[in-house]
Amino acid sequence: MKHGGHAGGIDLAGVAGPIRPFETAAAWRFRRGLEDNEDSPRMPKINDVTDLSYEGEIAVVTLNSPPVNALSVPVTEGLFDAFNAAIASDAKAIVLICEGRTFIAGADIAGFGTIRTPRATLQDVQKVMENSPKPVIAAIHGTALGGGLETALTAHYRVAVPSAKVGLPEVHLGLLPGAGGTQRLPRLTGPEKALELVTSGRHVGAKEALESGIVDELVPEGQLREGAVAFARKVLAEGKPLRKVRDNDDKVAPFRGKPELFDTFRKANARKFRGYKAPGHNISAVEAAVNLPFDEGIVEERRLFVELVTSPESAAQRYSFFIERAAQKIPDIDPATPTLPIKSVGVIGAGTMGGGIAMNFANAGIPVTIVEMAQANLDRGLGVIRKNYENTAKRGGITEAQVEERMGLLTGSLDMNDLADVDLVIEAVFEDMGVKKEIFTKLDAICKPSAILGTNTSYLDINEIAAVTKRPESVIGLHFFSPANVMKLLEIVRPAKVKKEIVATAVKLAKQIGKVGVVVGVCYGFVGNRMLTKRQLQANDVVIDGANFWDVDRVLYDFGFPMGPYAMMDLVGLDVIKDKPGEKSMRGAMVDKGRLGQKGVGGFYDYDDKRNSTPSPVANEIIDEFRKKAGKTPRPVSDEEILERCMFIVVNEGAKCLEEGMAIRASDIDVIWQNGYGFPPYRGGPMYWADNVVGLPKILERLKVYQKEIGDAFKPAALLEKLVAENKKFADFAA
Ligand code: 3HC
Repeated sequence: MKHGGHAGGIDLAGVAGPIRPFETAAAWRFRRGLEDNEDSPRMPKINDVTDLSYEGEIAVVTLNSPPVNALSVPVTEGLFDAFNAAIASDAKAIVLICEGRTFIAGADIAGFGTIRTPRATLQDVQKVMENSPKPVIAAIHGTALGGGLETALTAHYRVAVPSAKVGLPEVHLGLLPGAGGTQRLPRLTGPEKALELVTSGRHVGAKEALESGIVDELVPEGQLREGAVAFARKVLAEGKPLRKVRDNDDKVAPFRGKPELFDTFRKANARKFRGYKAPGHNISAVEAAVNLPFDEGIVEERRLFVELVTSPESAAQRYSFFIERAAQKIPDIDPATPTLPIKSVGVIGAGTMGGGIAMNFANAGIPVTIVEMAQANLDRGLGVIRKNYENTAKRGGITEAQVEERMGLLTGSLDMNDLADVDLVIEAVFEDMGVKKEIFTKLDAICKPSAILGTNTSYLDINEIAAVTKRPESVIGLHFFSPANVMKLLEIVRPAKVKKEIVATAVKLAKQIGKVGVVVGVCYGFVGNRMLTKRQLQANDVVIDGANFWDVDRVLYDFGFPMGPYAMMDLVGLDVIKDKPGEKSMRGAMVDKGRLGQKGVGGFYDYDDKRNSTPSPVANEIIDEFRKKAGKTPRPVSDEEILERCMFIVVNEGAKCLEEGMAIRASDIDVIWQNGYGFPPYRGGPMYWADNVVGLPKILERLKVYQKEIGDAFKPAALLEKLVAENKKFADFAA
């Protein structure tokens, strides 16, 4: 769709007078003696972002506020004026449509928390639309989200193209739909579906939206404007009523005075919603829609919304939205840098990592050649992938046909020469520098000159790997997190010699395969694992000092992590990480006693057949031995000490990553922790938490205390000292 009215930015409405009802753009130009603009008919504007035009008796309000038509002040003011003008005109029906990539994608998130006094609020716009004496039809393409869908719900009818999606994703921002969404949606879909939608924030495809009553008709792809105008004419011709969603009672009435639905839903999802404030408020708002008259429900929705919008949880979750996008911007790489097309991929290694990595590409429709050393490994790897897909299909995530389609994109091979033509190779074999060097030497000889050579190493020096090739400028780290088909993080590790085009390609590719890419530097463990290792060491040390390992798990679980470090080791398998020669960790000692974790007889915990865990006596014996060896008499360790030692040391390591330039910005570290390690989004991330909740002065003070009491592991980073001295935050630091 082309934008029709702002070339040159001159307000033509002021020059030529407003367009008249029933007047086409061509007639208006003719009346004013204007030439056709070279590429588009010029329309009078309501304001910089809103046009009003007419197709015969149908007024068309067009919004164009890139990138996503968010409801900024000019948008609500423009819509308000446009609707009033359309109502005052002779038009008989009004279509609301958006230009660009999407229908209104919601309130302007950037504007939350700032004081704005628009001449017309979203609520004013909604009132004008809903009370319009002429039918209003919302025409949806792209994504009608949050306040965008709520605007559409005040239209009398909604049409959409098949590719459109609608949703109320406010819950991800720690909010609820605060413009009537919690009151209107249940009146269309019934409260059960509404509960699911507002608490998941899920985007609903057009077909499902049609089936569940959210939209009234689908119009052919690419013909939204024509389709919506035709629909408006049909409404007029058939004398259809001005249907207000607020007046629908039949979907909610059966549930009135019956709290069971809501209580059951709360209980069933308690674990999923743990720590978050918004899901509970969303449920209460839908409950209000069922039990209260519409206007009272709106008052309750507002009350709940205000509680959320002023909460620290929502502030952190809104921050999380923007930092994911900020991470896509690399200061020394021009966004216009050309990227390389990735049409085929090779993965070396069909183990857990390699298989998971390959699935990401198959999911995105990109063919993958998986190379293994032995047929048995290849068969096993491909078998695991198939099983994963089939499980997803069983849960309804994909269709059986999609399972076959995706499997069809995967080709197994025992010969690295089959990678001669792929655009990207990702090596995912075990962590052994010698083996990796051998593979990269071979890849260098086999792959075409334009191929990108990636390694999924978690710890090894990628500069050293790159140096064995004649094309170090094409070697990059692509560090996926296990399970690689599920975890959203992709650390894009940037060795010294890699070309900018290749980094830019990796950033783009990450988005294409549904990952959150974060560019980091080469150091031991890169940013994520380097910081995690520090937490792990403290998790061990506090136990040696006297804490129970299950208390360490409990404290970190209560903080909001999905599980604590010991439960995590049991899940991943205690034998996955090997002790270095000459070293013996508690984990290694557990392995020696045959305790491999959940996949075996148990690990730090014993498990019953429902996976309920109890601390294992074997673990306690081993811990006692380690305490004795360290000459420690166990002392009581407070929850506060556990949390401080485990998390402040993480923050301190993050500061070191920043000062060394291993992370570009503090918020990138937060993206890594949310998407790779389950850091609770409602706390923002370790650096945000340090900046805004704990405060850097307190962290510095406590690190100094622990440095004195425990040792130099707690030596504060120079950057932390500097920021505290300057009364600044991590967020103020730019490398
Ligand atoms: N407010 C302000 N800026 C927004 C925005 C919003 N609601 N939604 C997207 N943007 C910005 C992004 O920050 C990004 O800016 P950048 O280019 O400067 O980084 C740009 O628009 C493009 O966004 P994406 O990179 O995310 O583009 P995609 O095409 O991948 O996705 C999208 C588009 C699906 C619309 C996605 O941006 C999205 O999910 N947006 C948020 C939608 C949302 O949460 N809406 C509800 C808002 S809260 C609300 O409405 C409250 C109401 O109930 C009162």
